[in-house]
Order: sequence, then C-alpha cells, then structure tokens
Amino acid sequence: MDRPGETTHFGFRDVPLGDKQTLVNDVFHSVAQRYDLMNDLMSVGLHRAWKNLMINALNPPRGEIPFALLDVAGGTGDVAFRAAEAAGGGFRATVCDINSDMLGVGRERAATRHLGDRVAFVEGNAEALAFPDRSFDAYTIAFGIRNVPRIDLALTEAFRVLKPGGRFLCLEFSTVDVPGLDRIYDLFSFRVIPPLGGAVTGDAESYRYLVESIRKFPKPSAFAEMIRGAGFSRVNWQSFSGGIVALHSGWRL
Ligand SMILES: C[S@@+](CC[C@H](N)C(=O)[O-])C[C@H]1O[C@@H](n2cnc3c(N)ncnc32)[C@H](O)[C@@H]1O
Repeated sequence: MDRPGETTHFGFRDVPLGDKQTLVNDVFHSVAQRYDLMNDLMSVGLHRAWKNLMINALNPPRGEIPFALLDVAGGTGDVAFRAAEAAGGGFRATVCDINSDMLGVGRERAATRHLGDRVAFVEGNAEALAFPDRSFDAYTIAFGIRNVPRIDLALTEAFRVLKPGGRFLCLEFSTVDVPGLDRIYDLFSFRVIPPLGGAVTGDAESYRYLVESIRKFPKPSAFAEMIRGAGFSRVNWQSFSGGIVALHSGWRL
C-alpha cells in the first residue's frame, strides 16, 4: 500500500509513486512496434552481445532435463528466445510483461521463429507475480527492473517464485567508470538517443525517459545489497563495456 505523498522518479522527474507505472506503460505502448529496431540502433548492436553473456551465465541444460525459465519484463521475447535457442528439449520459458503491446510483438516473433510451443507470453506485474511459490529454475530480467516502481517488491517476488537452488540474473544499465568514455556516453545518451528515438518511433520523450532512468538506477554495489536484502545468496555482479551494463547474479539457496 502506498503512503500518501510518497514519490519516486520517472527519469529526472519526481512523480507520485502510484503514477510511475502508468507513465512507464505509456512509454512502452508508444515504442513497442519499433522497440527491437531501436535497441539495435541505440546500442549499435551491443545489446545482443550483452544478452548472450546473460544466456552464457544462465547456461540452460542442453538435454531433455526439464528447466523452467521466467523472464520478467521480457517485452518482445529477446532473452527467452536466446535462451530457448541455447537450450535442449526440456527447456520452457515464460515471458511475463505488464505491457500487452510488447507481448503482442513477442508472440508474433515467437511464431515466426517456431518457438511458440517453448515460449509462453503472460501479462503480469513484476511486483505481484501470478505464479506459485518455488515454481521456476531461473528468473531473468533484462533492462526491465529500473522501470519497475517498487524494485524491492520485484526482488521479493523473484525470490518467492524460484525453486531452492534457482538462479536470479538481472542485466541492467549501470555506471560508466572509464574516464573519457563517460563523457562520450553522456553525449551519445542525451544528444543522440532522444532525437534518434524521435526519428524512428515518433516519440523522442520516451527515449529521454529511458536515458534519464539509467542515470537514476542504483550503483551496482547498492543494487547488490538490495538483491541480498530480498534473501538471495552468493550475490555478485560483472560489469561490461566500461560499466555501460552490469549483470547481477544471485541464488535462492
Ligand atoms: C526496456 S524493456 C526490456 C524488454 C526486454 N527484456 C529486452 O531486454 O529487450 C522494459 C520492459 O519492462 C516492462 N515493464 C515495466 N514495468 C513492468 C512491471 N512492473 N512488470 C513487468 N514488466 C514491466 C515494460 O513493459 C517493457 O517491456
């Protein structure tokens, strides 16, 4: 239950906590059809390599052993498809996202790739997952958690739905810590991405929110502390591309 007057940030703006999800949903409704193209353009293709590093860490079984992945804020299915392609016949993924437009694009992509029987798409909120306790072998979330208003609730839910021995992996934009790269990254983020987003999707403001939200996300050490706070063990992270992204890992033991 939100306390009256409680606020959070939506990019650089302070907004009532209860309003953030609606604002985030407007962003992804607006960009859904061109989301994947924009990912390639604004990361110059690097998001593919970062997601592959996440799948390497996940290391889904190659054989027929049953393995259930929950990919939260999974949008158009990119992470789930990569995992399915790396895994064996026992693998099943559930993509859970709050946004029906993103899921719609994902379902079409799954059909095109003939992955419809291995990847299911379910509408739902990371803060209140409609799945039983201890039901998944792994939980992934890529570029999603910073959009969730109550990150602590999402982490608690991740822990709840994982089986003991289950793996939590979160790929998220992080803090660039290479002198020189930080200035280039800022210039690219604030001067290039919003106009590019405007040209490709007709919505520069949504891309302004996306780059601002990256700057508001906690530093990796602080986020690792939040993951520990939700009950996870053996929590660690790895930074990639000079700190542009970090892969956080934890286990439900
Ligand atoms: C930047 S996209 C990431 C999509 C995908 N994981 C990827 O890496 O391509 C963020 C996604 O988070 C979803 N999202 C935002 N708030 C959410 C929430 N509370 N619960 C579930 N999904 C949420 C959005 O709808 C959007 O699809």
